[in-house]
Amino acid sequence: MMRKKIVAGNWKMNKTPSETVELIKALKPLVKNDEVDVVFCTPFVSLVSAIEAAKGSDIAIGAQNMYYEESGAYTGEVAPNMLTEIGVQYVVIGHSERRAYFSETDETVNKKVLKAIEHKLIPIVCVGETLEQREQGITVDLVRLQTKIALKNVSKEDAMKMVIAYEPIWAIGTGKTATSQQAEEVCAAIRQVVSEIYDQETAQAVRIQYGGSVKSANAKELFSMPNIDGGLVGGASLTTDFGNIVNYK
Ligand code: 13P
Repeated sequence: MMRKKIVAGNWKMNKTPSETVELIKALKPLVKNDEVDVVFCTPFVSLVSAIEAAKGSDIAIGAQNMYYEESGAYTGEVAPNMLTEIGVQYVVIGHSERRAYFSETDETVNKKVLKAIEHKLIPIVCVGETLEQREQGITVDLVRLQTKIALKNVSKEDAMKMVIAYEPIWAIGTGKTATSQQAEEVCAAIRQVVSEIYDQETAQAVRIQYGGSVKSANAKELFSMPNIDGGLVGGASLTTDFGNIVNYK
């Protein structure tokens, strides 16, 4: 089975609504590629403008977070139906910055994954190790555990539609990219754990991205690895280089 590549831009805390419209206008003609699903994950307040600006293109819009309850007294949080009503299709869950600065845990990640699926949002679940963990040799153990907990109570059918992003924390925003071998090794381990939880069919369907200082100069090598189905791109997704990343071949 051929998995379709998926390249997503994680804009993080960048771009006001008007800046969002400007950037999407500039990138729209550059990110055309029928062989790749393209997703822009903008800040919450820019989502409506992003969806409007992306009309007439194949660009899908994603959020960078959401809460795991339907509604209620959760000041400052955003509910899944608020996202689906405006046309959001994807949601990043458990990014390492949210785990590090906003106390997200494997357990809250799992709750959010289940709630996103319930609302037909496609989760892009982030996993990955710190430099200290890599040096200790526990990367694969850690990422296996993060993946297992994130997928708890997720059905096979839903798991097949999910996206998992392997993002080594030491490679995020540092200009230090994992080598294609390092990235492939961990992405293969993630696929292996999915096959253990479900089966081969599920493992072959789930899409696994690499994230961490992806740019056009390294995208081709990374995305050509057998278990890497595209990328989750931070810094470079805010520049015209994102067009070259989407058209990495
Ligand atoms: P950079 O591409 O800026 O390293 O960020 C990666 C990332 O965290 C994407 O979610």
